[in-house]
Amino acid sequence: MNSILDQSLVLKGKKVIVRVDLNVPMKNGSITEISRIVKILPTLKLLIEKKAKVIILSHIGRPKGMIVEGMSLAPISKKLSDLLNIKVLFNKNKIGENALLEINKIPDGSVMMMENIRFHKEEEENDDSFSKKISSLGDIYVNDAFSCSHRAHASIEGVAKYMPSYCGLQFIEEINALSKITSQITRPVTCIIGGSKISTKIKIISNLIKNFDNIIIVGGMGNAMLKNIGMNIGKSVCDDGYKDLVGEILKKSKTHNCQIYYPKDVVVSKDLNGNGEIKEITQVNNDEMILDIGPKTIMSIKNIIDNSNTVLWNGPAGYFENTNFANGTKEILKIIANKKSKDKIYAVAGGGETVAVINKFDKQGSFNFVSTAGGAFLEYLEGKELPGIKALN
Ligand code: 3PG
Ligand code: MG
Repeated sequence: MNSILDQSLVLKGKKVIVRVDLNVPMKNGSITEISRIVKILPTLKLLIEKKAKVIILSHIGRPKGMIVEGMSLAPISKKLSDLLNIKVLFNKNKIGENALLEINKIPDGSVMMMENIRFHKEEEENDDSFSKKISSLGDIYVNDAFSCSHRAHASIEGVAKYMPSYCGLQFIEEINALSKITSQITRPVTCIIGGSKISTKIKIISNLIKNFDNIIIVGGMGNAMLKNIGMNIGKSVCDDGYKDLVGEILKKSKTHNCQIYYPKDVVVSKDLNGNGEIKEITQVNNDEMILDIGPKTIMSIKNIIDNSNTVLWNGPAGYFENTNFANGTKEILKIIANKKSKDKIYAVAGGGETVAVINKFDKQGSFNFVSTAGGAFLEYLEGKELPGIKALN
């Protein structure tokens, strides 16, 4: 894999398309956590210093090919301007000729951000002519979005076919750290999977079973498990239609001797702003939603972690944005931190929300590595070659 550190790479005056992951948590139009922006600064600073013309591509959210006002990258370009201490220009044009006219006007050593690439439906389709169009905007392509590299999308995979392609500094850091981790893992290994990206992660869980001793499923993922084994989860946000996959997970877990845990008790509320009430999982009413794990579940997570040598964690255990539902997530952090402080565990965490939680409770020191990647982190642990990595090889 070629990197932007390659000595033979001439950057001066070159239009460098950099794919980054600016999919940061937002609330009412404001950024609530900036780790993913901070992580791309070294690559951007290097390109600026070398007098390249930097063209930033990213997505935020899942607009599914539509222009969604609340999913514009404009507020993020402002934040990036502050962090880089230079004005980051914003190019609202669709990928194509008008966008290129703007790009051709910028001086060497400057930075221009394109609008959310997922406003184009061709991005997620990995459309070949769209990939070509992206490549026509620049001379060189750099992937510094390891956390998106499990997606075979045009700006991650397709574009690399059409131009000289390199990886960025954060990408290298993630790959180096994760490859070291996977070679050093000692069993028993416990993987905690939470968060809400059910469609992405449910298949991954099935594939991870062979590698791990325990898989603890919490948060939105826990709701998906519970619903698909026939429990009433009230009005919790959750897709069904995963009965077969959940059945496969439970069956495979027996074959591979991997224990699967999901919540025994939960904290429910009628809405996101409520105070929460602890309930057995069998007692959830139709007008309630599950927003956190309960004390019995926390206790069993503690027992499992106490008996593990490695813990890998992606995804919060509840709606931690409201402190009434942050207890499960906080307790998991505390359990890992306690065990880590006695140096009795190897702990790695990953994911946009997970990083936000770890920073919120100031617990970076409790982990051997914190990855910005969630889905990509889990797929890497599966042992898969990610499309974004393959494209650079
Ligand atoms: C992430 O947050 O994991 C990445 O930005 C990828 O987002 P996606 O799951 O919507 O593809
Ligand atoms: Mg995310």
